[in-house]
Amino acid sequence: MVLSLNDPLDMHLHLRDGRMLDIVAPLSAETFSGALVMPNLVPPVTTEEAVASYRERIVKAGENRAFTPYMTLFFRSDYTPEFLASVRKEILAIKLYPAGITTNSEGGVEGFDLIELAPVLEAMSELGIPLCVHGETGGFVMDREAEFIPIYEKVAGAFPDLTIVMEHITTKEAVEALDRFENLYATITLHHLYITLDEVAGGLLQPHLFCKPIAKRPEDREALLKAALSAHPKVMFGSDSAPHPREAKEAPGCAAGVFTAPLALPALAQLFDRHGALQNLQPFVSDNAKRIYGITPPKKEVLLEKSPWLVPEIYEGTVVPMFAGQSLEWRILRAG
Ligand code: NCD
Ligand code: ZN
Repeated sequence: MVLSLNDPLDMHLHLRDGRMLDIVAPLSAETFSGALVMPNLVPPVTTEEAVASYRERIVKAGENRAFTPYMTLFFRSDYTPEFLASVRKEILAIKLYPAGITTNSEGGVEGFDLIELAPVLEAMSELGIPLCVHGETGGFVMDREAEFIPIYEKVAGAFPDLTIVMEHITTKEAVEALDRFENLYATITLHHLYITLDEVAGGLLQPHLFCKPIAKRPEDREALLKAALSAHPKVMFGSDSAPHPREAKEAPGCAAGVFTAPLALPALAQLFDRHGALQNLQPFVSDNAKRIYGITPPKKEVLLEKSPWLVPEIYEGTVVPMFAGQSLEWRILRAG
Protein backbone atom coordinates (compact mmCIF):
# COMPACT_ATOMS: atom_id res chain seq x y z
CA MET A 1 0.00 0.00 0.00
CA VAL A 2 1.30 3.48 -0.90
CA LEU A 3 0.16 6.78 0.55
CA SER A 4 0.82 10.13 -1.10
CA LEU A 5 1.08 13.30 0.99
CA ASN A 6 1.30 16.74 -0.54
CA ASP A 7 3.37 19.53 1.00
CA PRO A 8 3.67 18.22 4.57
CA LEU A 9 4.12 21.00 7.15
CA ASP A 10 5.56 20.88 10.64
CA MET A 11 4.08 23.87 12.44
CA HIS A 12 6.29 23.69 15.56
CA LEU A 13 9.93 22.76 15.09
CA HIS A 14 13.20 23.33 16.95
CA LEU A 15 16.13 23.44 14.52
CA ARG A 16 18.76 24.80 16.95
CA ASP A 17 21.98 26.27 15.58
CA GLY A 18 25.57 25.36 14.71
CA ARG A 19 26.39 21.65 14.41
CA MET A 20 22.96 20.52 15.64
CA LEU A 21 21.29 22.67 12.96
CA ASP A 22 23.53 21.04 10.34
CA ILE A 23 22.46 17.59 11.56
CA VAL A 24 18.71 18.16 11.89
CA ALA A 25 17.80 20.73 9.20
CA PRO A 26 18.37 18.35 6.24
CA LEU A 27 16.21 15.71 7.96
CA SER A 28 13.20 18.05 8.14
CA ALA A 29 13.90 19.66 4.76
CA GLU A 30 13.96 16.21 3.12
CA THR A 31 10.36 15.27 3.90
CA PHE A 32 8.59 18.52 4.83
CA SER A 33 7.68 21.44 2.60
CA GLY A 34 8.05 23.90 5.43
CA ALA A 35 8.10 24.33 9.16
CA LEU A 36 7.37 26.97 11.78
CA VAL A 37 10.78 27.47 13.36
CA MET A 38 10.91 28.17 17.10
CA PRO A 39 13.00 31.12 18.31
CA ASN A 40 14.33 29.75 21.63
CA LEU A 41 18.01 29.95 20.72
CA VAL A 42 20.59 31.30 23.16
CA PRO A 43 20.12 34.26 23.04
CA PRO A 44 16.52 34.13 21.79
CA VAL A 45 15.59 35.51 18.37
CA THR A 46 14.32 39.03 19.13
CA THR A 47 15.51 41.28 16.29
CA GLU A 48 14.89 41.59 12.57
CA GLU A 49 18.58 40.93 11.88
CA ALA A 50 18.58 37.81 14.07
CA VAL A 51 15.52 36.44 12.24
CA ALA A 52 17.04 37.11 8.83
CA SER A 53 20.42 35.61 9.62
CA TYR A 54 18.89 32.54 11.33
CA ARG A 55 16.74 32.00 8.24
CA GLU A 56 19.87 32.12 6.07
CA ARG A 57 21.67 29.57 8.26
CA ILE A 58 18.64 27.25 8.08
CA VAL A 59 18.39 27.50 4.29
CA LYS A 60 22.12 26.80 3.99
CA ALA A 61 21.90 23.82 6.36
CA GLY A 62 18.91 22.50 4.37
CA GLU A 63 21.21 22.28 1.35
CA ASN A 64 18.85 23.76 -1.23
CA ARG A 65 15.99 21.35 -0.64
CA ALA A 66 12.50 22.72 -1.37
CA PHE A 67 11.73 23.74 2.20
CA THR A 68 10.47 27.03 3.62
CA PRO A 69 11.49 27.93 7.16
CA TYR A 70 8.61 30.02 8.49
CA MET A 71 10.31 32.19 11.07
CA THR A 72 9.09 33.28 14.50
CA LEU A 73 10.15 35.97 16.90
CA PHE A 74 10.52 35.42 20.66
CA PHE A 75 7.71 37.40 22.37
CA ARG A 76 8.74 40.38 24.46
CA SER A 77 6.32 42.82 26.02
CA ASP A 78 8.50 45.81 25.12
CA TYR A 79 8.26 45.45 21.33
CA THR A 80 6.95 48.67 19.78
CA PRO A 81 4.22 48.77 17.11
CA GLU A 82 6.81 50.31 14.73
CA PHE A 83 9.22 47.43 15.28
CA LEU A 84 6.43 44.88 14.79
CA ALA A 85 5.28 46.56 11.57
CA SER A 86 8.83 46.42 10.25
CA VAL A 87 9.59 42.81 11.28
CA ARG A 88 6.23 41.58 9.96
CA LYS A 89 7.63 40.65 6.53
CA GLU A 90 10.32 38.42 8.08
CA ILE A 91 8.07 36.30 10.31
CA LEU A 92 4.93 34.18 10.27
CA ALA A 93 4.20 34.34 14.01
CA ILE A 94 5.45 35.38 17.44
CA LYS A 95 6.06 32.74 20.10
CA LEU A 96 5.27 33.52 23.73
CA TYR A 97 6.97 31.58 26.52
CA PRO A 98 6.24 32.04 30.20
CA ALA A 99 9.66 32.73 31.80
CA GLY A 100 11.59 29.60 32.76
CA ILE A 101 8.85 27.12 31.79
CA THR A 102 10.91 25.16 29.25
CA THR A 103 14.26 24.97 27.42
CA ASN A 104 15.84 28.44 26.88
CA SER A 105 12.75 30.37 27.98
CA GLU A 106 14.40 32.40 30.73
CA GLY A 107 13.77 35.66 28.82
CA GLY A 108 10.05 34.94 28.53
CA VAL A 109 7.06 36.66 30.11
CA GLU A 110 7.00 36.95 33.92
CA GLY A 111 3.57 36.52 35.49
CA PHE A 112 0.93 37.00 32.83
CA ASP A 113 -0.26 40.54 33.20
CA LEU A 114 -2.71 41.18 30.36
CA ILE A 115 -2.43 44.92 30.88
CA GLU A 116 1.32 44.76 30.41
CA LEU A 117 0.99 42.54 27.33
CA ALA A 118 -1.93 44.43 25.77
CA PRO A 119 -0.02 46.93 23.59
CA VAL A 120 1.97 44.19 21.83
CA LEU A 121 -1.09 41.93 21.47
CA GLU A 122 -3.09 44.85 20.09
CA ALA A 123 -0.41 45.63 17.52
CA MET A 124 -0.11 41.96 16.53
CA SER A 125 -3.86 41.77 16.12
CA GLU A 126 -3.87 44.83 13.87
CA LEU A 127 -0.91 43.61 11.81
CA GLY A 128 -2.37 40.10 11.50
CA ILE A 129 0.56 38.40 13.27
CA PRO A 130 -0.52 35.12 14.93
CA LEU A 131 0.44 34.51 18.57
CA CYS A 132 1.83 31.06 19.36
CA VAL A 133 1.85 30.21 23.04
CA HIS A 134 3.61 27.70 25.27
CA GLY A 135 0.59 27.47 27.57
CA GLU A 136 1.78 26.28 30.96
CA THR A 137 1.58 27.97 34.38
CA GLY A 138 4.21 27.44 37.06
CA GLY A 139 1.83 25.13 38.95
CA PHE A 140 1.97 21.37 39.59
CA VAL A 141 3.49 19.78 36.50
CA MET A 142 0.45 17.66 35.55
CA ASP A 143 -1.93 20.63 35.96
CA ARG A 144 0.07 23.39 34.27
CA GLU A 145 -1.67 23.25 30.91
CA ALA A 146 -5.20 22.94 32.28
CA GLU A 147 -4.48 25.88 34.61
CA PHE A 148 -3.42 27.94 31.59
CA ILE A 149 -6.76 27.53 29.74
CA PRO A 150 -8.44 30.49 31.49
CA ILE A 151 -5.51 32.66 30.35
CA TYR A 152 -6.02 31.54 26.74
CA GLU A 153 -9.71 32.37 27.10
CA LYS A 154 -9.01 35.82 28.49
CA VAL A 155 -6.65 36.68 25.63
CA ALA A 156 -8.94 35.14 23.01
CA GLY A 157 -11.90 37.14 24.37
CA ALA A 158 -9.99 40.41 24.72
CA PHE A 159 -8.43 40.17 21.21
CA PRO A 160 -11.04 38.48 19.02
CA ASP A 161 -9.12 39.29 15.82
CA LEU A 162 -5.85 37.83 17.08
CA THR A 163 -5.08 34.30 15.85
CA ILE A 164 -3.91 32.33 18.90
CA VAL A 165 -2.25 28.95 18.57
CA MET A 166 -2.14 26.77 21.68
CA GLU A 167 1.14 24.97 21.03
CA HIS A 168 1.69 21.25 21.60
CA ILE A 169 -1.54 20.67 23.52
CA THR A 170 -1.60 17.65 25.83
CA THR A 171 -4.93 17.74 27.65
CA LYS A 172 -8.61 17.18 27.02
CA GLU A 173 -9.23 20.62 28.56
CA ALA A 174 -7.23 22.25 25.75
CA VAL A 175 -9.08 20.25 23.08
CA GLU A 176 -12.40 21.38 24.58
CA ALA A 177 -11.28 25.04 24.66
CA LEU A 178 -10.73 24.96 20.87
CA ASP A 179 -14.43 25.04 20.17
CA ARG A 180 -15.26 27.81 22.63
CA PHE A 181 -13.38 30.61 20.85
CA GLU A 182 -13.27 31.19 17.11
CA ASN A 183 -9.72 32.54 17.22
CA LEU A 184 -8.17 29.64 19.19
CA TYR A 185 -6.21 26.99 17.26
CA ALA A 186 -3.79 24.27 18.31
CA THR A 187 -0.84 22.14 17.30
CA ILE A 188 -0.50 18.51 18.37
CA THR A 189 2.80 16.62 18.42
CA LEU A 190 3.52 13.08 17.32
CA HIS A 191 4.73 11.93 20.73
CA HIS A 192 1.65 13.15 22.60
CA LEU A 193 -0.50 11.04 20.27
CA TYR A 194 1.55 7.95 21.15
CA ILE A 195 2.50 8.23 24.81
CA THR A 196 1.15 9.02 28.25
CA LEU A 197 3.13 9.63 31.44
CA ASP A 198 3.25 5.85 31.79
CA GLU A 199 5.64 5.50 28.84
CA VAL A 200 7.87 8.23 30.31
CA ALA A 201 8.03 7.22 33.96
CA GLY A 202 5.78 4.21 34.56
CA GLY A 203 8.66 1.74 34.28
CA LEU A 204 12.34 2.52 33.94
CA LEU A 205 12.70 6.26 33.30
CA GLN A 206 12.80 7.07 29.56
CA PRO A 207 14.77 10.30 29.15
CA HIS A 208 14.23 10.45 25.39
CA LEU A 209 10.46 10.73 25.98
CA PHE A 210 10.82 13.49 28.58
CA CYS A 211 9.49 16.81 27.29
CA LYS A 212 7.50 19.89 28.14
CA PRO A 213 4.57 19.78 28.44
CA ILE A 214 4.94 16.36 30.07
CA ALA A 215 2.76 13.60 28.54
CA LYS A 216 -0.49 13.27 30.49
CA ARG A 217 -3.24 10.72 31.18
CA PRO A 218 -4.88 8.13 28.90
CA GLU A 219 -8.07 10.22 28.68
CA ASP A 220 -6.02 13.22 27.54
CA ARG A 221 -4.30 11.18 24.82
CA GLU A 222 -7.75 9.93 23.74
CA ALA A 223 -8.98 13.50 23.31
CA LEU A 224 -5.85 14.44 21.32
CA LEU A 225 -6.23 11.36 19.14
CA LYS A 226 -9.85 12.16 18.46
CA ALA A 227 -8.97 15.71 17.35
CA ALA A 228 -6.00 14.63 15.19
CA LEU A 229 -7.52 11.52 13.62
CA SER A 230 -10.65 13.46 12.65
CA ALA A 231 -8.42 16.29 11.32
CA HIS A 232 -10.29 18.83 13.44
CA PRO A 233 -10.17 21.95 11.23
CA LYS A 234 -8.50 24.05 13.96
CA VAL A 235 -5.74 21.55 14.66
CA MET A 236 -2.39 21.30 12.88
CA PHE A 237 0.56 18.95 13.13
CA GLY A 238 3.50 20.50 14.98
CA SER A 239 6.14 17.94 15.91
CA ASP A 240 7.85 20.01 18.62
CA SER A 241 10.82 17.93 17.55
CA ALA A 242 13.40 19.23 20.03
CA PRO A 243 16.85 17.68 19.63
CA HIS A 244 19.35 17.69 22.47
CA PRO A 245 22.76 15.99 22.43
CA ARG A 246 22.61 12.48 23.87
CA GLU A 247 24.69 13.47 26.91
CA ALA A 248 22.17 16.21 27.81
CA LYS A 249 19.31 13.66 27.74
CA GLU A 250 20.98 10.70 29.41
CA ALA A 251 21.99 12.73 32.44
CA PRO A 252 20.85 13.87 35.84
CA GLY A 253 18.91 17.04 35.03
CA CYS A 254 17.73 15.53 31.72
CA ALA A 255 16.92 18.22 29.12
CA ALA A 256 13.28 18.38 27.95
CA GLY A 257 12.52 17.54 24.33
CA VAL A 258 11.73 14.57 22.07
CA PHE A 259 13.48 14.32 18.70
CA THR A 260 10.95 13.11 16.11
CA ALA A 261 11.45 15.05 12.86
CA PRO A 262 13.01 12.26 10.73
CA LEU A 263 10.40 9.66 11.66
CA ALA A 264 7.36 11.91 12.06
CA LEU A 265 5.67 11.07 8.75
CA PRO A 266 6.15 7.26 8.92
CA ALA A 267 4.99 7.24 12.56
CA LEU A 268 1.96 9.39 11.72
CA ALA A 269 1.09 7.10 8.79
CA GLN A 270 1.33 4.09 11.14
CA LEU A 271 -0.93 5.75 13.71
CA PHE A 272 -3.57 7.00 11.24
CA ASP A 273 -3.50 3.62 9.45
CA ARG A 274 -3.98 1.67 12.68
CA HIS A 275 -7.04 3.82 13.41
CA GLY A 276 -8.43 3.58 9.87
CA ALA A 277 -8.01 7.33 9.40
CA LEU A 278 -5.36 7.61 6.64
CA GLN A 279 -7.66 9.88 4.64
CA ASN A 280 -7.38 12.52 7.37
CA LEU A 281 -3.59 12.65 7.47
CA GLN A 282 -3.37 15.13 4.57
CA PRO A 283 -5.48 17.82 6.30
CA PHE A 284 -3.74 17.18 9.63
CA VAL A 285 -0.19 17.51 8.23
CA SER A 286 -0.77 20.21 5.65
CA ASP A 287 -4.17 21.53 4.55
CA ASN A 288 -5.28 22.85 7.94
CA ALA A 289 -2.01 24.73 8.44
CA LYS A 290 -2.14 26.21 4.92
CA ARG A 291 -5.62 27.53 5.59
CA ILE A 292 -5.05 28.74 9.16
CA TYR A 293 -1.76 30.53 8.41
CA GLY A 294 -2.61 31.43 4.79
CA ILE A 295 0.65 29.98 3.46
CA THR A 296 1.64 28.36 0.17
CA PRO A 297 4.71 26.19 0.79
CA PRO A 298 6.83 24.75 -2.03
CA LYS A 299 5.29 21.75 -3.74
CA LYS A 300 6.51 18.42 -2.44
CA GLU A 301 5.00 14.99 -2.84
CA VAL A 302 5.96 12.43 -0.23
CA LEU A 303 5.22 8.79 -0.99
CA LEU A 304 4.99 6.45 1.97
CA GLU A 305 4.87 2.70 1.66
CA LYS A 306 3.45 0.22 4.14
CA SER A 307 6.61 -1.78 4.70
CA PRO A 308 8.80 -2.04 7.82
CA TRP A 309 11.45 0.58 8.52
CA LEU A 310 14.01 0.42 11.29
CA VAL A 311 14.43 3.80 12.98
CA PRO A 312 18.15 4.62 13.45
CA GLU A 313 19.56 4.28 17.00
CA ILE A 314 21.18 7.70 16.77
CA TYR A 315 21.80 10.45 14.18
CA GLU A 316 25.42 11.50 13.54
CA GLY A 317 26.41 9.92 16.86
CA THR A 318 24.73 12.86 18.56
CA VAL A 319 20.95 12.82 18.84
CA VAL A 320 18.69 9.89 19.75
CA PRO A 321 15.25 9.84 18.08
CA MET A 322 11.94 8.57 19.41
CA PHE A 323 11.48 4.88 18.47
CA ALA A 324 15.30 4.50 18.28
CA GLY A 325 16.17 1.02 17.04
CA GLN A 326 12.49 0.08 16.73
CA SER A 327 10.58 -0.89 13.63
CA LEU A 328 7.77 1.24 12.19
CA GLU A 329 5.15 -0.20 9.83
CA TRP A 330 5.56 2.56 7.22
CA ARG A 331 8.57 4.00 5.47
CA ILE A 332 9.28 6.87 3.12
CA LEU A 333 9.53 5.67 -0.46
CA ARG A 334 10.28 8.99 -2.11
CA ALA A 335 10.09 12.70 -1.37
CA GLY A 336 10.40 15.42 -3.94
C1 NCD B 1 11.61 22.38 23.74
C2 NCD B 1 13.11 22.63 23.50
O1 NCD B 1 13.93 21.77 23.88
O2 NCD B 1 13.45 23.66 22.92
N1 NCD B 1 11.47 21.33 24.71
C3 NCD B 1 10.39 20.54 24.89
O3 NCD B 1 10.41 19.75 25.84
N2 NCD B 1 9.35 20.61 24.12
C4 NCD B 1 10.96 23.64 24.16
C5 NCD B 1 9.46 23.60 24.16
O4 NCD B 1 8.82 23.60 23.10
O5 NCD B 1 8.88 23.53 25.25
ZN1 ZN C 1 8.65 23.48 21.28
